[in-house]
Amino acid sequence: MRLMVLYCSPRKNGYSARYLQEAVLGYQEVHPNAQIIPVHLNDLNMKGCQHCGACKAEDAPPLCLLEDDLKQVLQTTLEVDAVLWGIPNYMADYNAQAKTLIDRYYGYMKKEASTLPSTQKSAVIMVQGNPDTDRFKDVEEFVVGFLGQRGRRVAYGLTIGGCRGVDGSAAPQEELEKARNLGRKLAE
Ligand SMILES: Cc1cc2nc3c(=O)[nH]c(=O)nc-3n(C[C@H](O)[C@H](O)[C@H](O)COP(=O)(O)O)c2cc1C
Repeated sequence: MRLMVLYCSPRKNGYSARYLQEAVLGYQEVHPNAQIIPVHLNDLNMKGCQHCGACKAEDAPPLCLLEDDLKQVLQTTLEVDAVLWGIPNYMADYNAQAKTLIDRYYGYMKKEASTLPSTQKSAVIMVQGNPDTDRFKDVEEFVVGFLGQRGRRVAYGLTIGGCRGVDGSAAPQEELEKARNLGRKLAE
């Protein structure tokens, strides 16, 4: 099994990274030999969608054609069994690094259907400073609906609030357990 892990925060020791680590452990409980492919989006040279239309041509390949570091990420997305996202909430929304990749999914969206593998599962862990996890539930719901192609593919979401401080070392055990459960669910 192959799991791609998308770290969307610029903080490699932040909360989303901490919860992603825990979710990966959950995934590995089910698939001990899984190949884990970590991607730190902030390290990549990536452009936003140029709306060039190349991905919509009749004979276009099944993904975005723009030549930058996301090309490999988008290609790998077509090959893995599961994709796990960790996204911080910035200004009541998913952050810019996540948005850049989400827009580039346009190349997967063909006239008839998505070119993403239908059996591939996705999950997202959203983190936010606000302790009220209902406050930005719409953001999680959008990402889950998007990754799940509105119910055509399996996608799970988890929002964790109260993420305050210089790093994710204060992540409470109770929340770590939720992240681990999400990883298990993604693997089952
Ligand atoms: C520019 C910026 C905007 C933010 N906006 C919000 C917000 O609107 N609501 C919220 O609950 N937290 C907000 N936060 C807090 C982050 O979501 C929180 O610190 C989170 O833990 C960051 O993710 P990370 O720890 O993985 O880096 C914001 C943080 C930054 C840097």
